[in-house]
Amino acid sequence: MLVKIARFDPDTSRAWEQEYEVDTTKQSMTVMDVLDYIAKNLDPTLAYYRHSICNHGICGRCVLQVNGKTKLACTERADGYESLSLAPVTSFPVVRDLVTYNSATKL
Ligand code: FES
Repeated sequence: MLVKIARFDPDTSRAWEQEYEVDTTKQSMTVMDVLDYIAKNLDPTLAYYRHSICNHGICGRCVLQVNGKTKLACTERADGYESLSLAPVTSFPVVRDLVTYNSATKL
C-alpha cells in the first residue's frame, strides 16, 4: 500500500510529503499499525502520537486526517483503503509531522 505522509520540520520550517510502501496484505492493520511499521522499519524520524496505554479510541490524542477525513489512527482500519494520505488535523498547530499541539496532550 502506498502511504503518503505530510511531514514538517519545525527547526527549518520545511514541509513536504513523503511516500512509503507498506505491505498490509499479511495482517489486519490500523492506521496506527501502519505508522508503527514505518517508524520501526522504514523511517525512525517520523513523528506521530502514540499513547501506549490508550490505543483504543479513548483519549483522542492520535487524531489525524486520513484521506482528508478526521480519524483516530488507533481505531481506523487501514484495510479498507487502496492508499493512505495522512496529514495532521488543521484545528491545532503542527509540532512536527503528524503531531499537533493539543491542549489535551499537555505538550
Ligand atoms: S491513542 Fe487514544 S484515541 Fe488513539
